[in-house]
Amino acid sequence: MDGTNGDTIVEFRDVYKIFGPQPRGRALDLARSGIPKKEVQRLTGHVVGMTDVNFAVNRGEIFVVMGLSGSGKSTAIRMVNKLYDVTNGEVLVDGVDVQKLEGTQLQVFRREKMGMVFQHFALFPHRNVIDNVGYGLKVQKVDRDERNRAALHALSLVGLAPFADHRPAQLSGGMQQRVGLARALASDPDILLMDEAFSALDPLIRRQMQDEMMEIQSRVQKTILFITHDLNEALRIGDRVCIMKDGAVVQIGTPEEILTEPATGYVAEFVQDVDQGRVIKVHEVMTEPQPVPHDMSLSDAMTLCDDVTGRFCCDDEGKPVALLTAADGLRVRSMGSDDLKAALRSDFDKCSPEATLNEMYAAAGRGLSIAVVNDDGHLVGNLDPRLIMEEMGRVEQLIDGFEREVFM
Ligand SMILES: Nc1ncnc2c1ncn2[C@@H]1O[C@H](COP(=O)(O)OP(=O)(O)O)[C@@H](O)[C@H]1O
Ligand SMILES: [Mg+2]
Repeated sequence: MDGTNGDTIVEFRDVYKIFGPQPRGRALDLARSGIPKKEVQRLTGHVVGMTDVNFAVNRGEIFVVMGLSGSGKSTAIRMVNKLYDVTNGEVLVDGVDVQKLEGTQLQVFRREKMGMVFQHFALFPHRNVIDNVGYGLKVQKVDRDERNRAALHALSLVGLAPFADHRPAQLSGGMQQRVGLARALASDPDILLMDEAFSALDPLIRRQMQDEMMEIQSRVQKTILFITHDLNEALRIGDRVCIMKDGAVVQIGTPEEILTEPATGYVAEFVQDVDQGRVIKVHEVMTEPQPVPHDMSLSDAMTLCDDVTGRFCCDDEGKPVALLTAADGLRVRSMGSDDLKAALRSDFDKCSPEATLNEMYAAAGRGLSIAVVNDDGHLVGNLDPRLIMEEMGRVEQLIDGFEREVFM
């Protein structure tokens, strides 16, 4: 078993992958001495696909490798099934050094140990669903009856048994991806390799697929190595998440650990941007401006601030000129004054309705309402910093979500 403990099913040990004509030359030496990917590429023209990667996937877990495009996620998967050679180090599956497998041994290993699910379903359009699912078994020369039985069982796992005779084109995108999942399950492999499997699906379907996959996994107890560039997805489905950047592992941990103890600024930034996959525009969260008339008393004006952080006063043209915050109002009132002007401030921020919440995050950190103005400078909305923090504060929400799941 070569040092792997009983619970480990896939292990990367000191793995490097260099792309180029001389992968084991200077580029590898530089990568091994810790020179970053960009620099290695500049100096040698070689691409560092993976540098000093170490991780161990436990049997039966959903292990998610997450990172931006080009960070080395697909390379990781391709090294598990030896589509790519390892430049240096070892990839072990069930204690077997994958690099040492050749010919028939490798073929048997691939088809018995692992099933793959891709982003693009890659179904045969002219074959019906059951034949698509059973195709891998057919290649393995499994006879028709047994093949159909296995395919139907896999289809029933993904809830598509009634569609066995349909053509792929008759199914929705989400259903086609379930066929892809069934195809991977048909040969009953220990490991599912899923490369951006849900990334092409629209958000609602995608969530359903995530739920379904987790549900299936809890029933069939497969090990899933799941690749995604989406941190939300990673945190949602992963038992553990491995974050990669430029071919290197940045952090490995449970979703809770990633959220609450981000190992580096890089991870922290990702976590802060959780859910930024859908970029939220200011106009989606701003509220009606309801400006405060100049001639109002402070106490009346403050009733307008009941449920907002502040309200703006506008000039005759409707352009914001001053901000009344509940806090300033209270302070002036506590000094016995009811003078609105004494409570107004002019050091507020403005933005366009088309700005993103991301862009306004820093401004929101001041805790003051932000005036949303159109191209002519007219007040069109009130952006409450609490709303930005709420929208951006997905971290807390995610943690709440996890706690709910844990305790349910
Ligand atoms: N066959 C290849 N030849 C050369 N460079 C490659 C090859 N495959 C991947 N790379 C490079 O390796 C790095 C990691 O790629 P990849 O694993 O596909 O990233 P990801 O899946 O995270 O988007 C990238 O810089 C990519 O350009
Ligand atoms: Mg990829």
